[in-house]
Amino acid sequence: MDFDRYLSQRAQRVRGSLGRQTSVPIPGLINLGSGTPDFLPPPEVFEAMQRALEAGRVQYTPWTGIPELRAAIAEKLKAENGITVDPDSEVLVTSGAQEALMTVLMTLLDPGDEALTPSPHYDEYTRDATILGGTLVPVPTTLETNFTVRAADLEAALTPRTKALVIVTPNNPTGTVLPEATLREIAALAQQRDLLVISDEIYEYYVYDGHRHISMASLPGMRERTITINSFSKSFGMTGLRLGYIAAPAPLIEAMLPFHHAMMICANAVAQMGGLAALRHPRDWFADILAEYDRRRRQWMASLDDLGLPYSEPQGAYYVFIDIRPTGLSSREFVARAREEARLVFQPGTIGGGAGEGFIRGALTQGSPQFEEGLERFVAFVRKLL
Ligand SMILES: Cc1ncc(COP(=O)(O)O)c(C=O)c1O
Repeated sequence: MDFDRYLSQRAQRVRGSLGRQTSVPIPGLINLGSGTPDFLPPPEVFEAMQRALEAGRVQYTPWTGIPELRAAIAEKLKAENGITVDPDSEVLVTSGAQEALMTVLMTLLDPGDEALTPSPHYDEYTRDATILGGTLVPVPTTLETNFTVRAADLEAALTPRTKALVIVTPNNPTGTVLPEATLREIAALAQQRDLLVISDEIYEYYVYDGHRHISMASLPGMRERTITINSFSKSFGMTGLRLGYIAAPAPLIEAMLPFHHAMMICANAVAQMGGLAALRHPRDWFADILAEYDRRRRQWMASLDDLGLPYSEPQGAYYVFIDIRPTGLSSREFVARAREEARLVFQPGTIGGGAGEGFIRGALTQGSPQFEEGLERFVAFVRKLL
């Protein structure tokens, strides 16, 4: 049967864009580019979820999330991010940041509308905008500026159809942390040109070498025009529990609700109890994880320095964006050959758009001894190519 004629235009637009996922682990293959952190949430998260299960808390929660969790999120945003929100009307608990960003783009983009983002960027934004018939306009950044966008470049890409700027800091895949001066320039641009800013801060805890994460909504005049997206996935090692949230002005949250309801009704009730326990857990718990990720980051950089391969300074998140142009291979060729010849998995830089051609995404997410073994194989593989 020919199913094509049943497919909506939006289905056809994104058909095949994900490729195929291999679900069977392949022996000997080491994923040195994975986006999944290798640590578990604090034990209290498991205990809270167990208690929730034992108490039978498996029914729908309020659409926007359980009140205690929304209150804890509002407290966290105030204490850690300098953002004041009303927990009842300005917080929406979602099934991860992934649902959050689709919910936000569904709320903002009509066909033909545009949102701008510095590129390389997290690819899901492109797919979501494409599904909706809108466009995520990539504003290319380069290795020379450590992939830090200039507000003037964003400004040059504005059109009458631009509704929002998407800012992801710390960034996936480049590891760039936008400095305060740049954020202030972007904030000024948003205010001058009356744009919303979608600020994806899910890697906020991963910052190295004194780089500081600053929340867009905490800057003067930005609270009312910023949609903050955050998640428990990366901060607490809970990617599979699918829990995230949006903080935004009440009228925007209200407008988002039908989309969130259409897709999810509410986030998973048991995961919400786990999220509440995570937020109540002392934050210094993360220091050891950060130290370990920093250790791996330094090992990555030392290996790349030995090889003489350029890379973007990994300032935050848990990625190393590596310039493989000296090998003469394209991103896709490099990834295919690394898999075939060194049994290593990387993401091509082009997952973040065309500006990532010539790069691959390495990661800090693999534990010992695979990490060290993977790095050794990487060095040997690249030496052969140079
Ligand atoms: C920048 C960015 N935003 C959102 C997501 C989705 O995260 P979540 O697991 O919270 O849905 C990811 C996942 O890798 C990401 O890198």
